[in-house]
Amino acid sequence: MAQFTLPANAVVRKDGRRYSAPSDAESVRSFQVYRYEPDEGENPRLDHYEVDLDQCGPMILDVLIKIKNEVDPTLSFRRSCREGICGSCSMNINGRNTLACTCGVDQFKGDIRIYPLPHMPVVRDLVTDLSGFYRQYAAVEPWLKNGADEPERERLQQKEDRARLDGLEECILCACCSTSCPSYWWNPDKYLGPAALLQAWRWLADSRDQATDERLESLEDAFKLYRCHTIMNCTQTCPKGLNPARAIAEIKKMVALRKS
Ligand code: SF4
Ligand code: SF4
Ligand code: FES
Repeated sequence: MAQFTLPANAVVRKDGRRYSAPSDAESVRSFQVYRYEPDEGENPRLDHYEVDLDQCGPMILDVLIKIKNEVDPTLSFRRSCREGICGSCSMNINGRNTLACTCGVDQFKGDIRIYPLPHMPVVRDLVTDLSGFYRQYAAVEPWLKNGADEPERERLQQKEDRARLDGLEECILCACCSTSCPSYWWNPDKYLGPAALLQAWRWLADSRDQATDERLESLEDAFKLYRCHTIMNCTQTCPKGLNPARAIAEIKKMVALRKS
């Protein structure tokens, strides 16, 4: 039987620190939050925070901000817009990758577990290293390639051509989809992952772009594109309701039609 050895820091200690709510709090919920500081040389731990929801905003991000501001300033996480637009507060909440700012506490019963995005190197606590993710995004060259002379104003599109970009240009690069994809977990350095591939399709689908052949040639690769086995986790988890799995299927179809 095959034997696997887990890295030493893979085991999360459950006996982290405990922070109780004020004794007069009436609406108390408990949050278990992943804490990890790689330089300390200790395994990650789960800290337990009781929060009075009567004194807190309704979203998971409100809870994290309250904990950081009033209870434990050492807790680290990313956030910016608080509107589901910047993509920086992506994390794993009760087993699902999503945005903390658009995820209501009232969606859950009982204790709520908050972890960083899975299968990514952790910089600290809920902050993951997304350098590889951004390199993959850059690899699909996400910009318009059109050799024609610059128009005096914008490059015009028919309404129906513009409509083809709906469901693609709304992507906020939060990485929830890629980090929920088993194929991406096993080949994060070779498989581009659903987020980068959705972006690749966004430019392939753009009527103004003239680099279709060049883009398809670069994507036609056993790992970059074909590691997708249509498991659909990406589409199920996208907090913006987008469909990266369909985008990947469209690219595969385009590659096949090009050859026929
Ligand atoms: S497709 Fe959805 S889950 Fe993936 S990066 Fe874009 S917004 Fe995030
Ligand atoms: S459909 Fe493809 S990209 Fe999406 S989760 Fe499955 S294997 Fe990953
Ligand atoms: S803070 Fe910007 S998406 Fe959540």
